[in-house]
Amino acid sequence: MKLVVCILSSAILGWAALRPDGGTVELVVAGNLKGNLAPCGCSKPMIGGIKRWATAVRKLQDQGDTVVVVNGGMTEGDGRQMAIKSETLAEMFRSVGVAAINITGADLQLGSEAIRIIERLSGGVVTSLEPGAGQFSDDHSPRQAGPFLICGVEDLKQEQLDEWIPPFIEEAKSKGKAPILLLFANESVAKNIANQFPSIAAIVYVSSNVMSTPIKVGQTWLLTPGEKGKFMVSATWDGAKFTRYRCVELGPEFADDPKVSEIYNRYLERVGAEKILDMVPRTTNEEFAGSQSCANCHDEAYQTWLKSKHAKALDTLEAEKHDRDPDCVSCHVVGLESSVGFMNRAETPHLAGVGCESCHGAGKAHSEDPKKKLGTAGPSSCVKCHVPDHSPKFDFPTYWEKIKH
Ligand code: HEC
Ligand code: HEC
Ligand code: HEC
Ligand code: HEC
Repeated sequence: MKLVVCILSSAILGWAALRPDGGTVELVVAGNLKGNLAPCGCSKPMIGGIKRWATAVRKLQDQGDTVVVVNGGMTEGDGRQMAIKSETLAEMFRSVGVAAINITGADLQLGSEAIRIIERLSGGVVTSLEPGAGQFSDDHSPRQAGPFLICGVEDLKQEQLDEWIPPFIEEAKSKGKAPILLLFANESVAKNIANQFPSIAAIVYVSSNVMSTPIKVGQTWLLTPGEKGKFMVSATWDGAKFTRYRCVELGPEFADDPKVSEIYNRYLERVGAEKILDMVPRTTNEEFAGSQSCANCHDEAYQTWLKSKHAKALDTLEAEKHDRDPDCVSCHVVGLESSVGFMNRAETPHLAGVGCESCHGAGKAHSEDPKKKLGTAGPSSCVKCHVPDHSPKFDFPTYWEKIKH
């Protein structure tokens, strides 16, 4: 495990002062977002999100020449919502003027049609050395931007390395550009390539963590954006070599970029309009009664629950405009996974919010005949929703104390 110690985002205030005299170019590396467009906001403060990233990138762009590249892994898995996410990301990247996007197997899970759409929406900046990329891209050749020539690859066999990398380096040389490799593979693969091809200026690789300093193999810098878009990572090119590395945590002190926010809001509207929530897979289940109907016999528990945040969990999503977003609703209602569970506020108002049956299980049978026992509730009922990503401070005794009944 490598410890991540990044420049605190407040350091951004001092950027202008940090910048050396003219003639340098900033290379911003992004990628491996795994479908994370924005932090969920389940606990505060949360870091990351393309809206903040765009603000940070535009700040750099205001200060001088900047080249932005994306090393694949925009989405993870398939399905309609992922396809909409990938299209949204392509538009967002175009909005900040991304120069190259490495398309990888993770993205291809969406199918070649989706990649063609990404290619169009991103402004035609898709790159891949794989000959098979011809299926989804008419021109996936290396991209030229500023002082760089940029190409994309995945983990390569030695024969492919020997066949594909030297011509790429040659091409860069003949154009007077510094070769940048977007590599959708891990650090050790990146090191191996850097050792074999020392004239590559930078290799962008995949890691779940960002680095406090870049790995250097000879003159080659190995850079990673980490995952899920939590940091903005960049390096300064002085015309002959990389000189300075920057890794900025995207905390709430970064405002949301207005243009990218607009694209994001359109994404939410599409998810709503296409009724993706109505298409979530459901299994058959026992019938729910709704929290209100438990009140008849368990009034005290009901009154306690009514005052808890659980009772208002769907209101929270409505206020955030995420109440039709399958990425969010499952933990903020009763029984989204069940064919007789929550559908929407109008049809199933009794199942809105985290209800009694989110923890005790479906209870219609018990409500009609209390001799029919419910399953036991306890710490294990909580952790299906209070997962570290959404509830980092969860601790059963402390949390139970707040809702005990
Ligand atoms: C895996 C379950 C889960 C998912 C998925 C989920 N949430 Fe939450 N959410 C929670 C939990 C648990 C809490 C309470 C966290 C705590 O207080 O520790 C919460 C709390 C919140 C809060 C209240 C934060 C506060 O400080 O008052 C907001 C807002 C929120 N979620 C929005 C979202 C949005 C938007 C999404 C989708 C992008 C989402 N949630 C997806 C489980 C989830
Ligand atoms: C008609 C009255 C009635 C309704 C409605 C009712 N309960 Fe009960 N509940 C009881 C009685 C009586 C017991 C005690 C049963 C026993 O001890 O055998 C009980 C016991 C329980 C228990 C203890 C564990 C168990 O299964 O015995 C839980 C938990 C519980 N109820 C939850 C709920 C929930 C949740 C609802 C709504 C979905 C609900 N009850 C609706 C009457 C009711
Ligand atoms: C179905 C998902 C789900 C389950 C199961 C669940 N929670 Fe929650 N919990 C949430 C959500 C969502 C919120 C945030 C609600 C909001 O603020 O809108 C939350 C909020 C809370 C809060 C309020 C936190 C605060 O800052 O005040 C407490 C306390 C809590 N949960 C305790 C528990 C405990 C204890 C369990 C298990 C016995 C549990 N929860 C089970 C989804 C769940
Ligand atoms: C966030 C999860 C959660 C929610 C929501 C919730 N409960 Fe509970 N409930 C629990 C847990 C955990 C226990 C403790 C079980 C134990 O002590 O063995 C419990 C205990 C109970 C008991 C006592 C059981 C016993 O054996 O004494 C009753 C009755 C009950 N709940 C009814 C309700 C009703 C009615 C609602 C809704 C109005 C509700 N609960 C909402 C998690 C929840």
